[in-house]
Amino acid sequence: MNSILYTHDLSQLLPIVEGYSAVFILVDSNTEKYCLPLLPEELKGKDVIIVPAGEENKNLASCTKILHVLTEKNADRHALLINLGGGMITDLGGFAASTYKRGIDFFNVPTSLLGMVDAAIGGKTGINLENYKNQLGTFQIAKNVIVNDIFLDTLPDAEFKSAYAEVLKYALIADKEMWNELNSVPETSRERMDIIKRCINIKNEITLSDPHEKAERKLLNFGHTVGHAIEGLSHEKNKPVLHGEAIAAGMMVESYLSIAKGELSEPEFIEILSKIKLFCNPANIDDFSIEELLAFMRQDKKNYKSEIRFSLLKSIGDGIFDIGISEEEIAEAIGIVLK
Ligand SMILES: NC(=O)c1ccc[n+]([C@@H]2O[C@H](COP(=O)([O-])OP(=O)(O)OC[C@H]3O[C@@H](n4cnc5c(N)ncnc54)[C@H](O)[C@@H]3O)[C@@H](O)[C@H]2O)c1
Repeated sequence: MNSILYTHDLSQLLPIVEGYSAVFILVDSNTEKYCLPLLPEELKGKDVIIVPAGEENKNLASCTKILHVLTEKNADRHALLINLGGGMITDLGGFAASTYKRGIDFFNVPTSLLGMVDAAIGGKTGINLENYKNQLGTFQIAKNVIVNDIFLDTLPDAEFKSAYAEVLKYALIADKEMWNELNSVPETSRERMDIIKRCINIKNEITLSDPHEKAERKLLNFGHTVGHAIEGLSHEKNKPVLHGEAIAAGMMVESYLSIAKGELSEPEFIEILSKIKLFCNPANIDDFSIEELLAFMRQDKKNYKSEIRFSLLKSIGDGIFDIGISEEEIAEAIGIVLK
């Protein structure tokens, strides 16, 4: 399980970096500008590795750049990499650190909401190989995760809203109380930190019980079977939607499927749809055909013997996984909910 430090005082990083032979800080072009200046002075003099922002740079070229800097600076196996950024940086930095000299320690300091509630914890690292998302990756837990919601002050609104889909997802699969409490976007830092903590606790609990996604961890994929297909297709068609926008639409479809397969009640389904629409910006799929989406879903990692498998809901706060659904049922659900 990740060791997590919730703090508004980033000088708390100083004692925990002591003892490392060298400290490197990985940022992207945005987090260099907005987040690096918030680190304590003592860390600003460390070697900073900058990669261009954006998912398209979560690739081998960026990884090679990091590994070259570590090599040129003679980083040994007792060096530390601090990943300061959103999920793109924590995935990329975690991957580079876990492969350099068979693995050095890394800390994740997530700066986006998605990074805080999801990407920075749970031990999955990865990079994309051309269009294949997370094709290369490792399971390696960050030595420390430092969570400070103050970074969110500079995060673009669309990114915040997109990540809210994951917040709703956690409530839907595991925490009805949180679902009932989520009635408006958190305004104070205290409210934000409270929601982030609850999401992290859910993810930590699930990933601890099933680190390699053999069972319960699949629950975290609620909304993602249809969502990933929408996201993938949107990139293929050069009309990219944000991850959370695709997942929000995916959760709407998968909630509908849950009525038939997971026993979700119709009133709960209606409640889910209205909350998703209130908080998120579900992707518009007018330009995608259902057949194109199904083609993407046939590649989903959760499938078994060519059956498309879903994580669904029994009720709000209670998820189930490994539910096989026919392509006809999926097509019907997409048609009814999103078309
Ligand atoms: N490892 C996992 O378990 C896991 C889970 C979910 C998502 N992911 C990965 O996470 C990535 C998506 O994460 P993301 O949404 O954080 O994307 P991201 O890291 O690309 O960040 C989104 C944008 O916000 C900018 N940004 C980040 N923090 C900022 C701040 N504080 N102020 C201003 N700008 C800021 C970034 O530069 C970028 O332009 C994907 O690559 C996805 O595959 C990984």
